[in-house]
Amino acid sequence: FLRGGAAALGGAALALGGRSAWDAAQATEAPAAPPADADGRATVPFRGPHQAGVDTPPQSFAAFVALDLADGVDRDALIRLMGIWTDDVDRLAAGKAGLTDTEPELAQVPARLTVTLGYGPAVFTAAGLEDRRPSWLRPLPAFDVDRLEDRWNDGDLILQVCADDEVTVSHAVRLLVKEARTFTTVRWVQRGFRRAPGTTKPGTTMRNLMGQVDGTRNVDTGVDPGLVWHTDAAGGWLAGGTSMVVRRIAMNLDTWDELDRAGREQAVGRRLADGSPLTGTAEHDEPDLEAKGPNGLDVINPIAHIRRARTENAAERFLRRAYNYDDAPGPGELSASGLVFVTFQADVDRQFVPVQRKLDEADLLNIWTTPIGSAVFAVPPGARDGEYLGQALLE
Ligand code: HEM
Repeated sequence: FLRGGAAALGGAALALGGRSAWDAAQATEAPAAPPADADGRATVPFRGPHQAGVDTPPQSFAAFVALDLADGVDRDALIRLMGIWTDDVDRLAAGKAGLTDTEPELAQVPARLTVTLGYGPAVFTAAGLEDRRPSWLRPLPAFDVDRLEDRWNDGDLILQVCADDEVTVSHAVRLLVKEARTFTTVRWVQRGFRRAPGTTKPGTTMRNLMGQVDGTRNVDTGVDPGLVWHTDAAGGWLAGGTSMVVRRIAMNLDTWDELDRAGREQAVGRRLADGSPLTGTAEHDEPDLEAKGPNGLDVINPIAHIRRARTENAAERFLRRAYNYDDAPGPGELSASGLVFVTFQADVDRQFVPVQRKLDEADLLNIWTTPIGSAVFAVPPGARDGEYLGQALLE
């Protein structure tokens, strides 16, 4: 069969005008590595007290891969898997091929690759470490706005793979999933994107597919590290780690289209042009929630998204790191777009849930947005030199 196949390929090459054209094309593409100063060479350090990909300035492209553990995977097997993944991520983040990489050239463009690993509740059961499972590591409570579809829910493990290049993301996902095939099966994959590198000024807040400037008021871990990272003072295996909530939120862009610009700005409480609050002139101006218009009504609607999402309690804030998605529409639909809404916080129950509850009670945006997937993960601390990911939990 092999010989027959080779002959057939030879025939095809001949039919295309012989091998030389093919070989020449290959030669012009080599070497695969980009020049030393190319953006594709940029790296984000993998080793350290925290995993990368949490407070890393968001890269342009992301894949979120939830996996389920195979039957019989125990603590020893988890340690083996962590060893494999740690080695792979260490190499890929530095622009080097994985040990068993079958497409090593694709690793030569790290493009700020980060891989962030999280554990679902089943990891603790499989490892016999139920007593170390954080109390918030379980599905979120049900919210009235939810229309969850099981195909986007939960997962025993998650890999958040981000880079400024989509080929890099695909290659990393393929390698990591392939190497885990005896331990796991893929449960769901969600892909997301922001503006491509070089298309906007660095530091520009992203826009979502409703056209809004999204991410203006966010947590800065340099200023408030304790909102995101478990501190050493709190002790335990999660010191230096965090939690990750992944909500797939569909946008109904067809009904959003029926709304005029003023109505759209009312829904959020900020202007579409530059993200400035309706009571200010620049994106980062503090909104004045007391301001009244000439008619005596609140300038920022009582149920505008920023009023409802803003919390009186500063300890309830969390880091948002969302990506757009744009799937193929179903029959009769024009689009299937939304946000892969991702947050990081030290404690899901104390920070995320109270805010989501307020939005569930009243939020103008609820008219056009619907959560269709939900998952919660514990993100172990980073791997320092010589350590594997999750070592503080599993050793
Ligand atoms: C702010 C959009 C869902 C929490 C904002 C802003 C936009 C926005 C445009 C204003 C700019 C900014 O400060 O980032 C959206 C869209 C959503 C969505 C389109 C759904 C598709 C959520 C959810 C939560 C949330 C589910 C929390 C559970 C927040 C918070 C702020 C915010 C905390 C900052 C409020 C402030 O302190 O001013 N969102 N959002 N958002 N959103 Fe959302």
